[in-house]
Amino acid sequence: MCGIVGYIGQRQAYDVLIKGLKRLEYRGYDSAGISLGGGNSRIYKCKGKVSDLEDQLAGQDVSGRIGMGHTRWATHGEPTDNNAHPHKSMNGRFVIIHNGIIENYSKLKTGLEAEGYKFESETDTEVLANLIEYVYLKNQNNGDSVSPEDAIRLALNMVEGAYGLVIMCSDIPKTLIAARKGSPLVIGIGSGEYFIASDATPIIEYTNSVIYLNDDDIAIINTDGLNLTNLKNVKQKPNIKKIDLKLDEIEKNGFDHYMLKEIYEQPRAIRDTYRGRLNFESKFLRLGGLHNVFDEIKDAKRIMIIACGTSWHAGLVGEYLFEEFTRIPTEVEYASEFRYRKPVINKGDIVIAISQSGETADTLAAIQLAKKAGAIVLGICNVVGASIPRETVAGVYTHAGPEIGVASTKAFTAQVTVLTMMAMAIGYANKGLSADEFTSLVDELYAIPEKIEKILEKAGCVKEIAGKIKDSSNSLYLGRGYLFPVALEGALKLKEISYIHAEGYPAAEMKHGPIALIDEKMPVIVLATKDHSYDKIVSNIQEVKARKGLIIAIVTEGDTTIKEMADYVIEVPHSDFALAPLLTVVPLQLLSYYIAVMRGCNVDQPRNLAKSVTVE
Ligand code: AGP
Ligand code: GLU
Repeated sequence: MCGIVGYIGQRQAYDVLIKGLKRLEYRGYDSAGISLGGGNSRIYKCKGKVSDLEDQLAGQDVSGRIGMGHTRWATHGEPTDNNAHPHKSMNGRFVIIHNGIIENYSKLKTGLEAEGYKFESETDTEVLANLIEYVYLKNQNNGDSVSPEDAIRLALNMVEGAYGLVIMCSDIPKTLIAARKGSPLVIGIGSGEYFIASDATPIIEYTNSVIYLNDDDIAIINTDGLNLTNLKNVKQKPNIKKIDLKLDEIEKNGFDHYMLKEIYEQPRAIRDTYRGRLNFESKFLRLGGLHNVFDEIKDAKRIMIIACGTSWHAGLVGEYLFEEFTRIPTEVEYASEFRYRKPVINKGDIVIAISQSGETADTLAAIQLAKKAGAIVLGICNVVGASIPRETVAGVYTHAGPEIGVASTKAFTAQVTVLTMMAMAIGYANKGLSADEFTSLVDELYAIPEKIEKILEKAGCVKEIAGKIKDSSNSLYLGRGYLFPVALEGALKLKEISYIHAEGYPAAEMKHGPIALIDEKMPVIVLATKDHSYDKIVSNIQEVKARKGLIIAIVTEGDTTIKEMADYVIEVPHSDFALAPLLTVVPLQLLSYYIAVMRGCNVDQPRNLAKSVTVE
């Protein structure tokens, strides 16, 4: 959560900060704020969007060559002007911006109040600002020579929780200090200038040389250079990487919203995800990122998949794929549940963590737990260099490109593509799949992007259906087998961007409860492509029809049976059932998108959400 950006160099910091905050706004948009000029730094902040802050600053003095900015996703204290970052310490020595949660903030606050500290906000962040200042001034009063950096280090050693921080101190006016534990921070290195950000998107138009901070790193940056140490004040060697991210990849390119652009990017994203790994002509599949542990994976006794949200839905598809293709028992679990119960993890179990951002706090914590128990932990991640790929022993990147829309779309289909390839590679190696089955799957997977293009051509028909159901208050999504996770994903998409209550169910479970909800006002979206359980889903549709539910069915091209029963049908091309999630999810993404637009919702930045959940 939260977007952080910092700048020091020859440019006007304000321009870099505002542009950077706009790029990072998908991470949080409750409030925005900046601090300019190192010494007696000026702070401007307000509830609302970055554009509200910009309006507020029109005509004000925003000059300065050093500064930092923040866009917030509130954890402690409502989204208000006062709770917006940056936060200044009570005596004005330190100004900080923070991404994360200081878990022991309440205890620290009580201690500071006893020392006379007063607080202007309800945030945990202000507690940290005051703690640093308290440590600094107390040591100075005792006659100890403690630098601002030392005080930060001492204070951070007292903190429990997670943070990505940028700090300025009035006693070292030309310095930015960045620190990380749990929440991501990247430093961009230009010529005589430095950029700090939560991810590389605000940096790439200035430089492609970056350093990803590790946990416990503290970077002290001024125009003369960068000094990297850790919490114990031991010097660290900066690992400078070149990033390959292009500006047009993170812009809207003529689409009204990022979400729509990202839905349309799916054919390209899937092709990029299998390119170089799957060879259609030679029927060859190789996942280089798994090479060093592939023997252990193919002989594994158990696979566990951990993830959150949409990535968890992709994991559910993975469960069906792994069990069918490899016959290895597979379980899928929410990372947040896994980390807090006592899961049985045996040495040599395979744990696959799936995450678009690679920064989801619960998924990262679950990885640590699995590693400790001796599991072989793999990652499926979209953001190169993020924490999850760095914490896992091997893995496969999805090459979906940056996903900015808060509702995940292309990341899901790219994750399912990777899971399909993993299951195919393991299944072929451990004889779960015959050579013929493998070859046929290669052909089927290869054809998916073109089939999605065909579905996208029919977006107009989905839009029309959206118009019919946009005013509903509830909806039900049903699917069987591989399409059950798609029903969950379709429901999640609708909930998060249009605020319509939606539930996903295995179609056969409907009669065990949800059927009571069905009446003529209830749209029921049924995933009903042709497969071995087709007749069963036809019966489920009849059951809904008998209760006057409004049926929208996703069917295989040419289906005439369901066309006669359903109120509306959306056709998708035929595919192997195991690959049907990659096709059937697309009309559901479009349906949610159009409904949300028709309801006047903010599609790319839905209320209460943020793109990357770096807090528990
Ligand atoms: C999906 O539309 C969501 N916004 C959300 O559920 C997301 O998938 C979840 O937070 C997991 O994120 P990750 O893939 O970056 O770990
Ligand atoms: N805990 C801080 C706040 O509520 C930072 C929140 C975040 O990282 O999203 O202001």
